[in-house]
Amino acid sequence: MAASKEQVLAALAKVPSPGGAPLTDARVLSDIVVSDGKVFFSISVDAGAVKSWELVRKAAEAAVRAVPGVQSALVALTAERAAGTASRGPQPSHVAQNRTAAATPAHSHAHRTDKVQPGIPGVDAVIAVASGKGGVGKSTTAVNLALGLRDLGLKVGMLDADIYGPSLPKLLAIKEKPQTVGGTRLKPIDRYGLSVMSIGFLIDEETPMIWRGPMVMSAITQMLREVEWGKLDVMVVDMPPGTGDAQLTMAQQVPLKGAVIVSTPQDLALIDARRGVAMFRRVNVPVLGIVENMSYFMCPSCGERSDIFGYGGARKEAERQGVPFLGEVPLHMTIREKSDSGMPVVATEPDGPHAKIYREIAAKVLEQIKGGADSGRMAPKIVIEA
Ligand SMILES: Nc1ncnc2c1ncn2[C@@H]1O[C@H](COP(=O)(O)OP(=O)(O)OP(=O)(O)O)[C@@H](O)[C@H]1O
Ligand SMILES: [Mg+2]
Repeated sequence: MAASKEQVLAALAKVPSPGGAPLTDARVLSDIVVSDGKVFFSISVDAGAVKSWELVRKAAEAAVRAVPGVQSALVALTAERAAGTASRGPQPSHVAQNRTAAATPAHSHAHRTDKVQPGIPGVDAVIAVASGKGGVGKSTTAVNLALGLRDLGLKVGMLDADIYGPSLPKLLAIKEKPQTVGGTRLKPIDRYGLSVMSIGFLIDEETPMIWRGPMVMSAITQMLREVEWGKLDVMVVDMPPGTGDAQLTMAQQVPLKGAVIVSTPQDLALIDARRGVAMFRRVNVPVLGIVENMSYFMCPSCGERSDIFGYGGARKEAERQGVPFLGEVPLHMTIREKSDSGMPVVATEPDGPHAKIYREIAAKVLEQIKGGADSGRMAPKIVIEA
């Protein structure tokens, strides 16, 4: 007999949250989808507490799997990282102060209209994939978008600008260290035809990094300018969440052709997405559009669709902001499993439905890049080096 939602909730009530309260009382659960023996739901927590919640996520998955009639369970942990903060390492207060201090000069340039930024030699267009909020699937979207652009015949590079929590080593299963050219410049690593660079290739994953504002700037600048990118049509930059130093550095250090904003459909995420749009506009970077990730849940066995987070919010938000809506990516076990095991769907299931969605998004992004998207808001003198 198939399991019921009540049975699942009863099992979850026995799982303690880090504070000791039953998981069902912790106000972190999304709607619970039970379909044909498959169970899916998400736990949304503060990013600072992700480590302790990962154990709860595992325990919840195990508890649900033990319910009679449940064949599989997928519990997603979504972290709500406050915008622009470095949550993945200890952060003494002086660091926070430094970050603020470092952000000040960046802000003072924010209204530039006449600053000509040097391009990255050989790179035609740099686009940022960003969100106001953490854990919405930026990195997953960035990787699959890059692969989608590759499938359109472009030579694509990827830069992981999330120096607090680099994820490209994991999402692309890259363990090797980049080689140097001529002793000083680094060679990007080639994976699935993408040229990839991440600070995660250079530092030990277990070492918590404390970055001060100026270090953030120089780390990103180095990855942009001291790497042999070669000839690229597009460089996709996976941004850290928020609207802090790293985003401003990017906007100032490179002539960004535009930014793709990723959001989930929930109201809170959309408010952050709005902040993201506003920030890029403030620094005269065109917004290429918004992607709604985890838009709806597709039951892997019956193919039925449920809108567990409420659906369509990002499309409406895009309309409200007057920016293109680039597409909807469902919440799907395959996307997560593939992404987290370094085998992104577009590369490993090119004929599947998800790859198609990402390729369609890539085509829209390319259209925007070519068409000089949002050009009314572009800084007039930004030049992209050929
Ligand atoms: N469409 C999707 N369906 C299922 N799982 C997804 C989807 N998109 C992302 N995920 C999963 O959600 C988690 C967070 O995704 P990801 O790391 O891409 O988010 P992020 O916004 O880059 O996070 P951060 O702010 O920490 O950098 C990952 O486990 C990923 O596999
Ligand atoms: Mg990320």
